[in-house]
Amino acid sequence: MRIDLFPITTRVEKTADRAFLTVAGCDPCELAERYGTPLYLYDQATMDDAVAAYRQALAQHYAAASGITYAGKAFLCLALAQWVGRQGLWLDCTGAGEVGIAVAAGLGREQILVHGVNKGPADVATAATHAATVVVDSRSELQRWAALARQPSASLPDLWLRLQPGLAVQTHVYTQTGQAGSKFGMEPVELREAVRFALGAGLTVTGLHFHQGSHFHDPAPLGPALETVLDLVAALRAEVGWLPQVLCPGGGWGVAYHEDDLPQPPIAEYVAFIAGHLQAGCERRGLPLPRLQLEPGRSLVARAGVALYRVGAVKEMAGQRWLLVDGGMADNPRPALYGARYAALPVEEPERSHTGPAWVGGPYCESGDVLIAGLPMPEVQVGEIIAVPVSGAYQLSMASNYNGACRPAVLWLKEGVAHLVQKREVLDDLLRRDVELKDSGLLQTGKAKLHGCRRG
Ligand code: LLP
Repeated sequence: MRIDLFPITTRVEKTADRAFLTVAGCDPCELAERYGTPLYLYDQATMDDAVAAYRQALAQHYAAASGITYAGKAFLCLALAQWVGRQGLWLDCTGAGEVGIAVAAGLGREQILVHGVNKGPADVATAATHAATVVVDSRSELQRWAALARQPSASLPDLWLRLQPGLAVQTHVYTQTGQAGSKFGMEPVELREAVRFALGAGLTVTGLHFHQGSHFHDPAPLGPALETVLDLVAALRAEVGWLPQVLCPGGGWGVAYHEDDLPQPPIAEYVAFIAGHLQAGCERRGLPLPRLQLEPGRSLVARAGVALYRVGAVKEMAGQRWLLVDGGMADNPRPALYGARYAALPVEEPERSHTGPAWVGGPYCESGDVLIAGLPMPEVQVGEIIAVPVSGAYQLSMASNYNGACRPAVLWLKEGVAHLVQKREVLDDLLRRDVELKDSGLLQTGKAKLHGCRRG
């Protein structure tokens, strides 16, 4: 397997007695020994590099103002939110919980943007207090903002409206969002009405947003979606004299997970496509260029992440070789959910030659708990550490406590130093939300008690 799936600081170190992978100058075996496994590593240099690639491409291809919002759903913790702050990015928070993390990390209002396809009262209240921008997903939500605007001394965030362009990108069906009939956003006619309603209600609508899906390699479907948005803008300018200050075509640019996906999809290709279409479309309609705000998640953090697992058992059955490791669908549900294809390397002697395909399975009680199926691998012994690259996005953010699994620790690597930024969960964490039944009579299995549970 090629090393270019790993963070950009990954090397194969060779000393007199061993060869081993290093990430950011750190030895994963040492880290696994010290912090246990499964263990997640994040390489800051890889994330910085991805941000720089976006910035450079925007500066090169887009003639007006632009910016980057990190989609926190890909992975968020205090350290990551602090990094977002230091990088001068905005943070896309889905709901009150992620806003809470952003605020705890010291992000200012101007860096916080709130998304959500059915924001509850807590999401709306938190967004009103802490966010400079909120992306409104529906007419019902817009009415809630209008009601808030009627309250005396209300100071509300800027609102963007989310369009459903009627076309998705090519990706797994579970991560398509732009198609007609999806639950996200408003159809063009509805959105046009929503802008008129918002202006009438005294709301400040400054932007339009759409997001057609996540993890795509072909930007082509963004072309027609941009045309739809610009047609809408032209119509709204003619009807009510309104123009958006900002246009956000969401995120979703893919990454390479597996050797077969290499080379890494170039960020510049994606940015150039959007910038080119947007500029040409505005010019054709005589529209001023809006600020272009991109909203990537995965393409900023996926490659920065490496998951380390320890092999606990090796089995050969019916001609199939199993490497059973100590993590799986609880820390990475992506193979089970989307059939995602990953790769792996042993950390020690990573360049050993392959002896045949291996299946990497986790410890959980599900046949779907298979991280990797049929990957060419060398002989691997019980006790070895294997590293799964491209583990930085949508793994820990979707992790669970299935089978009582404790979620892994996270280390932040920079220039030879590993900083613990998320502790491994322990039994107390698993019990933290639980409340004991105080009345032991409730546990009696007699008829009378059972009746008490029934409705009516
Ligand atoms: N903006 C919006 C409104 C989104 O819904 C998303 C992702 C993004 C931006 C960032 O997309 P990205 O650049 O990260 O692809 N759990 C799935 C992915 C779900 C994506 C949800 N929305 C997975 O593991 O592939």
